[in-house]
Amino acid sequence: MDKKYEALFTPWKIGKVEIKNRIVMCPMGGTSLFGWMGPQKFNKEAADMFLNIAKNGCGLIIPGIAPLRNMLGGGWLYKVSQKEYDKLSVWLEEFHKTGAKLFVQLTAGFGRSFSIPNHMTGIVKSKFLSKLVKPVFDFDRLLAAPSALPARWYPEHTVREITVEEIKGIVKGYALTAKRLKDAGVDGVEVHAVHEGYLIDQFTTKYTNKRTDEYGGSFENRYRFATDIVKAIKAECGEDFPVSVRYSALSKTKDFCVGALPGEDYEEVGRDMEESEKAVKYLQDAGYDMLNTDNGTYDAWYWAHPPVYMPENCNLEDVAHVGRFCDIPVVCAGKMDAEVAAKAIKEGRIDGMGVARQFLTDNEWITKLQEDRLEDIMPCIHCHNGCFPLAHYKGVASDTPLGDSIHMARCALNPQTMDGGKYDLTPAKVSKKIAIIGGGIAGMEAARVCLMRGHKPTIYEKTDKLGGVFIAAAAPEFKKKDKELIAWYRRQMEKLNVEIKFNTEVTDITKLDADEVIIATGSTERKLRLPGAERAIDAIDYLLGEKEVGENVVVIGGGLTGCEVAYDLHLKGKNPIIVEMKNDLMAVPGICLANSSYLRDYFAWKKVPVYLESSALEIKEKSVVINTKEGQKEVEADSVVLAIGYNPNPIAQKSKKVHVVGDANGVGNLRTVIWGVWDACKKI
Ligand SMILES: Cc1cc2nc3c(=O)[nH]c(=O)nc-3n(C[C@H](O)[C@H](O)[C@H](O)COP(=O)(O)OP(=O)(O)OC[C@H]3O[C@@H](n4cnc5c(N)ncnc54)[C@H](O)[C@@H]3O)c2cc1C
Ligand SMILES: Cc1cc2nc3c(=O)[nH]c(=O)nc-3n(C[C@H](O)[C@H](O)[C@H](O)COP(=O)(O)O)c2cc1C
Repeated sequence: MDKKYEALFTPWKIGKVEIKNRIVMCPMGGTSLFGWMGPQKFNKEAADMFLNIAKNGCGLIIPGIAPLRNMLGGGWLYKVSQKEYDKLSVWLEEFHKTGAKLFVQLTAGFGRSFSIPNHMTGIVKSKFLSKLVKPVFDFDRLLAAPSALPARWYPEHTVREITVEEIKGIVKGYALTAKRLKDAGVDGVEVHAVHEGYLIDQFTTKYTNKRTDEYGGSFENRYRFATDIVKAIKAECGEDFPVSVRYSALSKTKDFCVGALPGEDYEEVGRDMEESEKAVKYLQDAGYDMLNTDNGTYDAWYWAHPPVYMPENCNLEDVAHVGRFCDIPVVCAGKMDAEVAAKAIKEGRIDGMGVARQFLTDNEWITKLQEDRLEDIMPCIHCHNGCFPLAHYKGVASDTPLGDSIHMARCALNPQTMDGGKYDLTPAKVSKKIAIIGGGIAGMEAARVCLMRGHKPTIYEKTDKLGGVFIAAAAPEFKKKDKELIAWYRRQMEKLNVEIKFNTEVTDITKLDADEVIIATGSTERKLRLPGAERAIDAIDYLLGEKEVGENVVVIGGGLTGCEVAYDLHLKGKNPIIVEMKNDLMAVPGICLANSSYLRDYFAWKKVPVYLESSALEIKEKSVVINTKEGQKEVEADSVVLAIGYNPNPIAQKSKKVHVVGDANGVGNLRTVIWGVWDACKKI
């Protein structure tokens, strides 16, 4: 292993518990050991994944939130049958043999930040129905906050103020649940959370806490809930039982539903640095043994769930800063780079590197890093398309129906992650010659899966490159991990010795020497029919740098591609203007709010003109005529970039032995592409 990673593999202590190395798997809801949105049952699938991650070198694993009270029925976790805790105990014996440690994260709830999955949104919007379904899904309980506040996902809905009796019940719940976990052999617990705008965090920040009782007003009152909890846990479990707290160094919040972006000068309505410096010491003195730290709130969600647009190590500076004001260990999460983290640990700026999503993409990344096989690590691209497809746009909050995605942490790039066995690969009964038409991500993934099952694939690619449209998708500066993903795929093709015929356009599949054919020919861009349309260039040509643009650029289409193009243009110092027919940008299910709100907030901050419910009527030499809500408008434009979508482009196919995959089967993203490839290939 390269020396630069050595600091990651040194032991450290949380309270009196020794952790063998500095890598902390951070919690992800869908990896809860007790199911965060389902019944409070020991989750064998999550446990199996953790065991594999522990065997692959992770020092400390913190499964996703375990709600103190069942999200659906309201039952307390500390009252759950001993049978479930026994299952945990038995599994822990195996887990501990790896030398890893396990802390369970317990949540008091979401307060105003609760997002309700698709199939339930109808229910919450209807007050009548919400009364009827209350015994099953108790919105009033779930949506109780320190004060009456606008709900994050449904700002028209005001959440009620939580009572003192409920607060005391939660404090007791923490203590009793922690005790049961301790008795089951768990190494510590983590309190969720003075972090990200969850219920306890809403108590600590002034903009969400308007109470006038002992839980509101002064600093001590606002932090009372958090400190009462650790005191109660310690009283029940003993001083030596470690208690971590998930903590946001800064709220990075400007207002309800408005975040502050990196580099933005803003007025903090939540926790600012002055308060944070005091808070970390205060939390330590109350009994907490570790701060598992980043930044943000649900109003500035891109800090806690950094999308592709956020810089790597985005929380490091703030976390390292607050770490100077306390003596307990500080872990930092958020797109952490192993080399940067190792350096920060070596310099004593932080104590642990928190990593979440990369574990879903590749359980074995630590082993690969230790074995100097970095090129084999499948990189997480921070898309949230599999693990967190919680979208939000004007009037709509939705999750993409991915089956169990809300209960299970899935991964866009790795369909086997928490898939319930759906994508277990069995060797093919007969090894077949498979012709794959197209060497985009779909074609390469198909070759990989076919090979893993014992087939003999050949890719026919009409260009001289592998990667397809994802080469354009990955072109912007901010898409470093996407570029790494293409490199990863190309390397896998080499390592697996996949036969590739470049510069070969297939027009007649009957002439191919193959038992079965996979068509992965991608898509073609939609054309715009309006006067001057020939002046517009396609987003792909812009991204590949094949066509130059001027200073003022009208981007037609405000979906994800159009918004990313506008963002890229702005980063390059151009003046983009977005024209979109719908009533919001990126108004499609599946684009995580953390990703879309970054771009929306960026355009608002940089005053990028956005015309919603508008359409282009004519493209002239130096302008574009737009039909806006306020009537016709002519805006200056040296160039026009089209981002109005793509249509599937399958070549002719007429046989049961032909399978169409990827964008050729339905234009989507890497999740739909990769998962669809597995669906098709496992049947061959
Ligand atoms: C601008 C843009 C940005 C995007 N950003 C993201 C993102 O951030 N995250 C995400 O998940 N998804 C993103 N997507 C979507 C994602 O890139 C696509 O869903 C995915 O790359 C499609 O892969 P594919 O292999 O199905 O098709 P393609 O990548 O289009 O590959 C098709 C391949 O087939 C070849 N081919 C076509 N016809 C023939 C033929 N007759 N014979 C031989 N070869 C042929 C082509 O040359 C090409 O290499 C983006 C898409 C665009 C356009
Ligand atoms: C699907 C998903 C669920 C998450 N759930 C939790 C959670 O239950 N508790 C928590 O404290 N953080 C949660 N997080 C935040 C992660 O712990 C982590 O801080 C974040 O993903 C940034 O780290 P990364 O860039 O390494 O993924 C979640 C993140 C994801 C992607």
